[in-house]
Amino acid sequence: MPIDPNALMAAAREGLDRAYAPYSHFRVAAAVIDEQGRVFTGVNVENLSYGLAVCAERVAIFSAIAAGARRIAAVAVTSSGADLLSPCGACRQVIAEFASAEVPVYCDAPDGLRRWSVGELLPHGFSAPQLGKA
Ligand code: THU
Repeated sequence: MPIDPNALMAAAREGLDRAYAPYSHFRVAAAVIDEQGRVFTGVNVENLSYGLAVCAERVAIFSAIAAGARRIAAVAVTSSGADLLSPCGACRQVIAEFASAEVPVYCDAPDGLRRWSVGELLPHGFSAPQLGKA
């Protein structure tokens, strides 16, 4: 299935205004596409109890999973910040649960899209064999 990185990033950017970030004032939005070509978006959702904030990437992935998706084919992430945003460690582990190592993660940057693979973002992540589950 062909993936258009710019279209996926456009879907992420379209959601940025819906981020709920009254504490950090740092808006993040993500879009994921599943293996059937369905696109799901997410935004960061913060809380007065700061530690309960959930990142945009996880919201997008959980939304996809709740809709029945199981494998993610690409991820795009953007933010209200001026610089390149790359996903936090927790989100990398969640992305790796549903996306193979070669799956692209596109991150918005002032000079265009930065592309990493899931495997580049999370080398040596916790994986099923360590649990005794192949
Ligand atoms: N945030 C994300 O949504 N994704 C990331 O990968 C990094 C951080 C959010 C969490 C919090 O709402 C805000 O950015 C500042 O950390």
